[in-house]
Amino acid sequence: MKKFPFLNLKQANSQHINEIKDAVCKVIDSGIYLNGEETAALENEIANLCQIKFCVAVSNGLDALRLIICAYKEEGIFCDGDEIIVSANTYIASILAISDNGLIPRLVDMDPNTLNIDTSKIEEVINARTRAIMPVHLYGNPCWDETIKRLAQDYDLVIIEDNAQAIGAKAACCGIHGTTATGGLGNAAGNSFYPTKNLGALGDAGAVTTNNESIANIVRALANYGSDRRYHNIYKGYNCRIDEIQAAALRVKLRHLEQETNRRRLVAETYNREISNELITKPTIFTDMRQVWHQYPIRIAEREEFREYLKMNGIDSDIHYAVPPHKQPCYSELADSQMPVTELIADQLVSLPIAAPITPKDASVIAQIINGFNS
Ligand SMILES: Cc1ncc(COP(=O)(O)O)c(C=O)c1O
Repeated sequence: MKKFPFLNLKQANSQHINEIKDAVCKVIDSGIYLNGEETAALENEIANLCQIKFCVAVSNGLDALRLIICAYKEEGIFCDGDEIIVSANTYIASILAISDNGLIPRLVDMDPNTLNIDTSKIEEVINARTRAIMPVHLYGNPCWDETIKRLAQDYDLVIIEDNAQAIGAKAACCGIHGTTATGGLGNAAGNSFYPTKNLGALGDAGAVTTNNESIANIVRALANYGSDRRYHNIYKGYNCRIDEIQAAALRVKLRHLEQETNRRRLVAETYNREISNELITKPTIFTDMRQVWHQYPIRIAEREEFREYLKMNGIDSDIHYAVPPHKQPCYSELADSQMPVTELIADQLVSLPIAAPITPKDASVIAQIINGFNS
């Protein structure tokens, strides 16, 4: 029986292994391991991809979001106790970045069609302490519409995108700078290059993207002990830099990102076309945007039996995410939040294999097996 892994990073990276090894060896031989040419070149390339002026490569995606919020605090725009509106269905890092800075995450439930924040529910939670909206482009789906733009303008809110799962995606309508690439739609964005991401490093890495030069400069200083020049510390900062080795590996992977995204899109289209089991709700393909399918999330009420059936047929699956942030023990203060769609998603969601080496042909075989499931 053919096996379909959910994720095999060794195999995924093996497609470009000689290029990666050459790039990494060049860094080792150069003797420059931080703040070198690879980091500067990566920053330019990511800024271009996100159609934005400034990129600061950092240690990981959580740090990228933390540093953005911290930079707005240093600018005096955010204060302790202010609120940031954020999707209730997200990886917990989005929420951690807010609370770690002494701000309050104000959760909004999801739209079951987009699996992103329900933008029609944002306005009702805006209050005098609201300073920002954090749209999370979950599963590789751009979370962006005219409502977010209008609310940010009407209430003078900062927009911080969580672009951890959507590098290379394009929204259906323009961002505040007139472009459509995610990571460049709002005032600043946190990007993750965690190894499993569509653009994954060989360890932790991330980036802040922004058109705001002042925020970019503060983030760069904060990530480097708070220093704007050697032994001159203007902030009580951190060490959140990226390694040259990760930057070099990422530049290789970046050259192949388009091909990787196209493979994911073809796999998703195959699943959508060929899965026809009435027990299953498929994700929506939106033709007016470019989804990059970090995950392919379906919903099914009979989740345990279904996953067992997949396993018996050699198909690995996963859940993103079984426990939403407001139900995690560390966020007991959010436990009473009423998030029925988020909770339904948490109970029913199954992510099907979509990472390399899964091909559209594999997706077709998997779809036929799925069509044979009945509870
Ligand atoms: C939506 C989301 N936000 C933030 C992060 C944090 O990124 P990192 O793992 O690079 O810290 C991740 C990934 O793990 C994520 O999926």
